[in-house]
Amino acid sequence: MTNENGKTLQVIGGGKMGQALIGGLVSSGWSAPLAIHVVEPSPERRSQIGADIPGLDIAESPIAGVDTLIAVKPNIVPLVLPGLAEVGVPRVLSIAAGVKISAIEAALPAETPVVRCMPNTPALVGEGMAAVAAGTSASASDIEWAKSILGSVGLVVEVDETDIDAVTGVSGSGPAYVFHLAEALIAAGIEQGLSADVADTLTRQTLLGAAKLLSESGEDPAQLRINVTSPGGTTAAGLAVFASAGFESIVSDVVRAATERSRELGAG
Ligand SMILES: NC(=O)c1ccc[n+]([C@@H]2O[C@H](COP(=O)([O-])OP(=O)(O)OC[C@H]3O[C@@H](n4cnc5c(N)ncnc54)[C@H](OP(=O)(O)O)[C@@H]3O)[C@@H](O)[C@H]2O)c1
Repeated sequence: MTNENGKTLQVIGGGKMGQALIGGLVSSGWSAPLAIHVVEPSPERRSQIGADIPGLDIAESPIAGVDTLIAVKPNIVPLVLPGLAEVGVPRVLSIAAGVKISAIEAALPAETPVVRCMPNTPALVGEGMAAVAAGTSASASDIEWAKSILGSVGLVVEVDETDIDAVTGVSGSGPAYVFHLAEALIAAGIEQGLSADVADTLTRQTLLGAAKLLSESGEDPAQLRINVTSPGGTTAAGLAVFASAGFESIVSDVVRAATERSRELGAG
């Protein structure tokens, strides 16, 4: 909802994720900078975001009557909700990890539509993966609104809130798994005699190229793997080591651990 001053969205927290989302919204034409009100207490962050995205309306306090995106750290969410309840906001999208919809709803006037989201850091380069979950008063159009915001920096799926912990285990923490694979590939390439620079370049571009093939070919990941694995060849020799080390069960344990940790952090 747009308020009487023409603001279409206010963003609470102009940090990394807040700025990435605002950048996506402005560059995709979802909103003019002037129609976005940013609430950010740090003077340094205020001047940085104002320099990076000219024309934003940046302030220290929230305004009334505008749809609101909460992009502060989870421990700060309970501190900003009373201010939003006081001014009155039509609906809320929260990207704070681990903060339950019920906690947000309890701090806002009854029946305020709330949508919770789990994004990931590739949103910083416009390739995010986000899952949204509807609160008890959120309608299909509130979900579409949330999807339109997150869709400016990547893909969005809708899930039940009970699935958000598993989403965290797969796509929320997932970029770190890939970065860890990159570290290991670079180190292994160096062990095989490559220079650090060459191993680094080979690894980054291989991950990017494989991810693009995965995303754009529409092929099943297993088929893509089979396509590059000649029987008795080099890839088969490498993959055999993954198999004997129980690669699939390691990944399963990794995702289970992250999902359970997300559950623990969100409990209570
Ligand atoms: N980064 C990720 O990978 C990722 C992934 C999934 C979800 N998330 C979620 O996204 C949210 C934001 O993460 P982030 O990485 O963007 O954090 P961040 O860079 O620390 O951004 C948070 C911003 O909020 C500001 N802030 C603090 N108190 C405030 C207040 N009372 N009112 C308004 N703004 C306030 C902070 O200012 P100061 O610097 O002055 O404190 C900071 O600029 C978190 O809840 C996180 O769980 C992040």
